[in-house]
Amino acid sequence: MKILFLLVGMLVATAAEEFNYDEAKVPPYELPSLLPTRAGSTLVSPDQWQTQRRAEIFSLLEKEMFGKSPPRPALRFRIMEAAAPALGGAALRQQVRVYFSAQEEPALDLLIYRPALTKNPVPLIFGLNFKGNQSVQPDPAILLCRSWVNNKDLKKPDVHHALEESRGIDAGKWPVESAIERGYAVVTGYYGDIDPDYDDSWKNGVHALFPDIEKQRNKETWGSLAAWAWGMSVAMDWIVQEPTLDGKRVAIQGFSRLGKATLWAAACDERFAAVISQNSGAGGAALNKRIFGETVGRLNSSFPHWFCGNFRQYSQNEAAMPFDAHFLLALAAPRPLLITSATEDRWADPQGEFLAARATNPVYQLFGHPVLQATTQPPPGKLANDRIGYFLRQGPHSVTREDWQAYCDFCDQHLPKRP
Ligand code: GCU
Repeated sequence: MKILFLLVGMLVATAAEEFNYDEAKVPPYELPSLLPTRAGSTLVSPDQWQTQRRAEIFSLLEKEMFGKSPPRPALRFRIMEAAAPALGGAALRQQVRVYFSAQEEPALDLLIYRPALTKNPVPLIFGLNFKGNQSVQPDPAILLCRSWVNNKDLKKPDVHHALEESRGIDAGKWPVESAIERGYAVVTGYYGDIDPDYDDSWKNGVHALFPDIEKQRNKETWGSLAAWAWGMSVAMDWIVQEPTLDGKRVAIQGFSRLGKATLWAAACDERFAAVISQNSGAGGAALNKRIFGETVGRLNSSFPHWFCGNFRQYSQNEAAMPFDAHFLLALAAPRPLLITSATEDRWADPQGEFLAARATNPVYQLFGHPVLQATTQPPPGKLANDRIGYFLRQGPHSVTREDWQAYCDFCDQHLPKRP
């Protein structure tokens, strides 16, 4: 009997763990319309989009997916390091601690590299990192991360030593010098400074600063993705007042789960002038209704802290979603939006990311902007450099120098020009 239970259990587990990677098995689906007809007429003006439909879509995703975020605090920061030469003299490095409240913790350490020789203020690419600022460059002057870290090497008893050893471990994902060469500053902060990435029923990170919200937590209360997005806006409050940086030319970037958070940050904060979401997959740029690779059910079971409670009703029930990824992407409109995928990253459904980008075209069209013209996924390595851009890289789920070249090509083309 015991063996029978074990066998049945194993079968159920295998069935539950099966994910579709076969285009032929994508179910038929219909995408909800971004511009539905109302009483016989379609939305026609950018103004109607902005005041009516965008607001509607924003509320829908806030309620059903990410949860409602609180207002931001008044800006408070401390300069941790004044501008100092870095990267062999090509850049100036600066470090700033931005606070989320009147308390000292939690707080977000920002690391800034800007071109040493370019005239200020400079445009910039701002993204959160996964392993602490010290992981971004092998630069001994970078302050070590002080928050929870998502790296098993850093759970060694001698954390300080492990953190020291982690200097530059993600430098491949942050080829800062190549962005500097192209005239962009790079700003980054560690996502765990905002909210640690594990399921603790939202007791830690910035959630802890809002006990009243937590006391009344319901299915529409913010999760961790919304918290990371909110933290990006708090960082933006600092960026826009920093005279060496051009607050009107900030592209936000995020990879994977942070690519999801970046899309929501762009939705919540229209000061970000361009949006780059890399390999963000399910719950990000990929169409969930395709049920290809990661599913909504899997997102909710593996990462119950990411989304708000309401999102769970769509586990194994994507067909019932009154929205899909194109709704999230459309909240970036009419700003330049770059979606990137990687050929081997099937878990994130590259084709679904491309199709969502395509499905967002009607909103950009409304603004008279040229749209993503490619009707099929462009070949790897070829940037579709339209206002909705798309880039497919050969290789796995990661970020590489090649991706950053695409970011810079895209920003050169689409970030607003300096008056
Ligand atoms: C997992 C998760 C994805 C996420 C990725 C990441 O693979 O399933 O949804 O994007 O982690 O953030 O690296």
